[in-house]
Amino acid sequence: MYLQKRHRILRSNPAIRSLVAETILTPNDFIAPLFIVEGENIKEEIASMANYYRHSVDLTVKEVKDLWSMGIKSVLLFVKAKDELKDNKGIEALNPNGLMQRSIKAIKDACPEMVVMTDVALDPYSSYGHDGIVEGNEIVNDATVEVLAKMSVSHAQAGADFVAPSDMMDGRIGAIRKALEENNFTKTGIMAYSAKYASCFYGPFRDALDSAPGFGDKKTYQMDYSNRIEAVKEAIQDVEEGADIVMVKPALSYMDIIREVKDAVDVPVSCYNISGEYAMIKAAAKMGWIDENKAILETLTSMKRAGADLIATYFARDAVRLLS
Ligand code: PBG
Repeated sequence: MYLQKRHRILRSNPAIRSLVAETILTPNDFIAPLFIVEGENIKEEIASMANYYRHSVDLTVKEVKDLWSMGIKSVLLFVKAKDELKDNKGIEALNPNGLMQRSIKAIKDACPEMVVMTDVALDPYSSYGHDGIVEGNEIVNDATVEVLAKMSVSHAQAGADFVAPSDMMDGRIGAIRKALEENNFTKTGIMAYSAKYASCFYGPFRDALDSAPGFGDKKTYQMDYSNRIEAVKEAIQDVEEGADIVMVKPALSYMDIIREVKDAVDVPVSCYNISGEYAMIKAAAKMGWIDENKAILETLTSMKRAGADLIATYFARDAVRLLS
């Protein structure tokens, strides 16, 4: 048979395949999310996230040093606030001595080069488990944005390198940027969760922080998964309002969105390989139905191929181990 072009030539052995690979994962691609709890010497496994833990601040600091030594350069902090500190205004979120603020300081003291990103949203502090202030049945936009801006300044004060608003209120990126500027935090970055969809795959995360919404769902602020153009609009607006990095979340079911956003903006794009995506791989691997290590590398590579410059993932540590 005469064939002018044989595509299999470039696939014929591992050496040639590695020479022509278009997408290569490196430790620089990853942001490691960390869950922090009060107490000392605490390491609790999250039931729906096998082999992922909530750590007290002291063990978080150890974990951060360890991640840094492996080549991971960024962490994204989430705290589990005590029930008695939750209200409808996010008062604890602004506490200069709160768990988040103390964690940021402890991490930056111990590992100053680690890029510390912090979650900005009210859900861990909300008695309703919503990302914003609740009035009646409504999650109100503008009053929430005011608190988010103050919360961002408080994180910057504690030493955060990036604030990462995950709430999906309108106008919060502009308000946060303005608040940071007004308070002289001219070096603090904003990683905006720009296209964050209302997803069933956040379940395990809400277990991790005990932050499931007490009533209703998050569909009046997080995006409808039927929509694509809207994601591009959100991302472009966040860049205009001052975002340094824009995020698409979740990742696996939203690869098309990652690509669309990547093509539309001129800032780095991140994606969040979320808790439910982690749990699915863990569960299938536990059943013996898939090879966990291969699934980790295949899914993360796909996210980068789709256009993600950065990937927040609970597999950061595993991936770096597998790559080395
Ligand atoms: C809430 C927040 C969520 C996640 C990050 N920040 C959950 C939600 O919106 O309910 C999900 C992360 C994950 O599932 O891994 N502000």
